[in-house]
Amino acid sequence: MRLDGKVALVTGGSAGIGAAVVDGLAAAGVRVIVHGRDEERSAAVAQRVGGAVVLGDLAVPGAAADVADAAIAVHGQVDVLVANAGAGWSGPFTGLGGDELDRLVTLDLLAPLHLVRCLLPPMIERRNGHVALVGSVAGRTAVAGEAVYAATKAALDIFAESLRLELRDTGVGVSLTVPGVVDTGFFTARGRPYDRKRPRPVPAAVVARALVDGITNDRAEIWVPGWLRVAPAVRALAPGVYRRLSARFGEQVVSR
Ligand SMILES: NC(=O)c1ccc[n+]([C@@H]2O[C@H](COP(=O)([O-])OP(=O)(O)OC[C@H]3O[C@@H](n4cnc5c(N)ncnc54)[C@H](OP(=O)(O)O)[C@@H]3O)[C@@H](O)[C@H]2O)c1
Repeated sequence: MRLDGKVALVTGGSAGIGAAVVDGLAAAGVRVIVHGRDEERSAAVAQRVGGAVVLGDLAVPGAAADVADAAIAVHGQVDVLVANAGAGWSGPFTGLGGDELDRLVTLDLLAPLHLVRCLLPPMIERRNGHVALVGSVAGRTAVAGEAVYAATKAALDIFAESLRLELRDTGVGVSLTVPGVVDTGFFTARGRPYDRKRPRPVPAAVVARALVDGITNDRAEIWVPGWLRVAPAVRALAPGVYRRLSARFGEQVVSR
């Protein structure tokens, strides 16, 4: 896809990976609409690329459709959706309250699906566009203490694969970016800082570069770093070995 002159909505563009994607797209000549929850942070990112801002709490049912409408209102169309906004929650599954569970699933799974539902039809009509979903290695490998987060990302994975099949020959691309550990505020926000030595967190700009390249070259999956692909391969081929390794080296559940 040629990006120059296109319009992109980046959800969660106010920080971390999303903010780096905003910079990457703007450098490629894209008119970027920065979505965030925090007004100041969102405005600061938008200002540095001359972009627009759309605010909304995507953990609230119905907010995704409002964000999509507000984004279309900015330039009349959205050619690229980067559904990146998301948050984790760390702790034993039994410690997650019902309302928190609903918010997590709404933000990490339902909001991306509703954004696609609202923004995809005009892309298909124009026979041009791209839906970039941001998953996680957690959705491929499973993580103790992040069962719901991992489940939402696993669902996004199969949604992306299905949608890509459905949209073949329409001119609209679908990609899933699968980051490992990225150096952002994600871990503090999930309630447990990242305290392992390995794997070392990669900079958000590295993920953003790969994601933007994935849009340009219509890649189905973008793993950052690439060697992470080994983990789900071992899980599929030797599940018993995988579970033993996971129990030994995986993240440990921390009581809240
Ligand atoms: N960091 C990692 O290691 C890692 C690994 C794998 C996947 N990911 C995925 O990458 C994506 C971006 O995460 P990040 O690492 O960049 O985290 P981050 O630095 O914490 O940024 C999260 C972004 O999502 C937005 N957001 C959070 N809750 C929201 C809500 N309720 N409504 C609307 N927007 C909300 C935040 O907006 P405000 O700041 O305005 O609230 C912020 O822009 C997420 O989908 C995450 O699951 C991250």
